[in-house]
Amino acid sequence: MIIKEISNRRSVREYKPDDVTDELIIEIIKAGQFAPSAKNNQAVEFVVVRKQETKEKIFEIVGQEYVKQAPVLIIPVIDETKSILPVQDLSVASENMFLQAAALGLGTVWKNLRPEWEKGVKKLLAVPEQFRAVNIIPVGYPKNKIEPHTNADFNDKKIHREKW
Ligand SMILES: Cc1cc2nc3c(=O)[nH]c(=O)nc-3n(C[C@H](O)[C@H](O)[C@H](O)COP(=O)(O)O)c2cc1C
Repeated sequence: MIIKEISNRRSVREYKPDDVTDELIIEIIKAGQFAPSAKNNQAVEFVVVRKQETKEKIFEIVGQEYVKQAPVLIIPVIDETKSILPVQDLSVASENMFLQAAALGLGTVWKNLRPEWEKGVKKLLAVPEQFRAVNIIPVGYPKNKIEPHTNADFNDKKIHREKW
């Protein structure tokens, strides 16, 4: 049941040094590519970073230790000349990737890219000007087990039937 993977997906901020194979990274990116997109633009592309030196340079811009600790960083980017809803397209692709990673026993987290950081990261990765990025997705084996979401996290008071 997909709800199992949804519950198991937690934000992971500590990773084991163990490598993640390219086959697994491709599975995660495939899930991102199978996400819905506005007018079916399919305009999301993915930068995969493994080099420690590059991860450290990204960390200098965006902070958070796990950025240099995770064995792989995936940066989804979208061509703004092709998408009318770039943030939404990047977000649904990212969630698909989080869920696929969780199903493979891998950890991820949405590392936010503030607008003032985006330019520097894009320059470092030689991403063309017309592409937008809103997050960085570290991928690695979680150092610690994080408990899945349970029904205790479910709040039915947030449901408004027919009217507020
Ligand atoms: C739009 C968005 C931005 C986020 N930005 C960050 C971030 O910059 N750094 C971080 O460590 N976690 C970030 N997170 C992860 C949230 O903190 C996390 O999803 C939340 O605490 C719930 O925990 P869970 O993901 O384990 O369910 C972000 C999540 C979202 C959806």
